[in-house]
Amino acid sequence: MRTASQFDIERWLALFEAVAAEGKWIGAESPVDKDERREIFDRIVNSSDAVVLIAEVDGQLVGVLNGRIHRGVVDLGLIVDKGWRGKGVGSRLIRTCLSWAADHRAHKVFLEVWPHNTDAIALYHKFGFVEEGRLRRHYRRRNGELWDAVQMGLVLDLTSPGSPYQELSPPRG
Ligand SMILES: CC(C)(COP(=O)(O)OP(=O)(O)OC[C@H]1O[C@@H](n2cnc3c(N)ncnc32)[C@H](O)[C@@H]1OP(=O)(O)O)[C@@H](O)C(=O)NCCC(=O)NCCS
Repeated sequence: MRTASQFDIERWLALFEAVAAEGKWIGAESPVDKDERREIFDRIVNSSDAVVLIAEVDGQLVGVLNGRIHRGVVDLGLIVDKGWRGKGVGSRLIRTCLSWAADHRAHKVFLEVWPHNTDAIALYHKFGFVEEGRLRRHYRRRNGELWDAVQMGLVLDLTSPGSPYQELSPPRG
């Protein structure tokens, strides 16, 4: 496991395209706009607010996690090669990302996942993420469908005080 450099972008793009082509796990859909993606990946790899973790087996790139910290919250994306799923790659990437988040004093890690992606949801639960909400009919797919998304979070800072107001006003209606 290591952090990515400029030289990993093409292989990351190839894995990203392959997972997008599966059609049901990530937000991006096939065909991926490669130039746009290269620009996005390039920005992420060169950003001091982001981490890109690469998992390799015998020189083959088998998984990538990208995380970006904004106002103390790390937003993460994760893909593992189809032939390498269920072998602990995703877990190792998340474990490393969580220590990166702690080192960067993040108070929370957050992500969105399709409700049917039960393997990913099980993986996130294993690390203590909880379901915080559901965006209904939120994302338009290229074929016109509107998909829900589950929002999941892992709070890292359990000691700072919460809002003093959240329990005071009874719900209306
Ligand atoms: C989701 C994904 C990243 C998981 O990566 P992975 O390398 O397969 O995960 P791991 O092997 O570390 O598995 C971790 C946990 O996930 C769950 N899991 C993974 N595969 C599973 C399966 N086939 N059935 C049930 N649970 C599964 C289990 O809780 C497992 O923990 P355990 O091994 O201790 O039982 C991978 O399946 C993937 O890339 N899917 C396509 C892209 C995607 O969905 N990305 C996430 C978008 S939010």
